Amino acid sequence: MTQIYAPRAHEDHPPFLYSDYKSTVKRSPSHDLISIVQTLTETTGPGPAWVDLSDDDADLTTNAGTGGEAIGQRSIITGRVLDEDGNPLPDTLVEIWQANACGRYMHWRETAFPAPLDPNFLGVGQCRTTDDGEYRFLTVKPGPYPWGNHPNAWRPAHIHFSLLGPSIATRLVTQMYFPDDPLFALDPIFQSVPEHGRDRLIATYDHSVTVENWALGYRWDIVLRGMAVTA
Ligand SMILES: [Fe+2]
Repeated sequence: MTQIYAPRAHEDHPPFLYSDYKSTVKRSPSHDLISIVQTLTETTGPGPAWVDLSDDDADLTTNAGTGGEAIGQRSIITGRVLDEDGNPLPDTLVEIWQANACGRYMHWRETAFPAPLDPNFLGVGQCRTTDDGEYRFLTVKPGPYPWGNHPNAWRPAHIHFSLLGPSIATRLVTQMYFPDDPLFALDPIFQSVPEHGRDRLIATYDHSVTVENWALGYRWDIVLRGMAVTA
């Protein structure tokens, strides 16, 4: 009996080609995909990629190292990383990146949107999940930003997530959104997600996570690919 990872749940993910999201037109595959056999390469992970992580890496309000604090609504983002069977996934490397409170990324190619940069905010953070699969970041809520997909296009406020679970086969890159954003209905990236999966991308406001006189709290659980059993 050999244990391998379950196949990608295509019905839960956006299609590779979603014409309203223009970048997908050129980058989507034009031939049928070929499934490859899972070998050691696919069923193992990158090793202790978190070895150099410190708790400071999960605090985006101060990890620019300037001695100052980022401007914006302090927000705690926490949740659990689980597999499809509900098992917690400890030691998962969780990496996030986001725009600042004005909707501006600190990136040399980000020049079209004339919003201010925040010298105390890099917009990147990392942490490692606990034995219960829990991650936790302190950041500021990102602002919406315009993009060139179509006239007057604006992205809802979001945080990009990358997760390296127990193997390369469980790698997930996704986006987290905040509740009740009026831009959801107008955003082709959000709309490209099958309707039954969209709510899974929206964090829940959680008053038990909110810290008095400090920061608002949001909870967002993430499910990575589970195991399949084959003879
Ligand atoms: Fe973004």
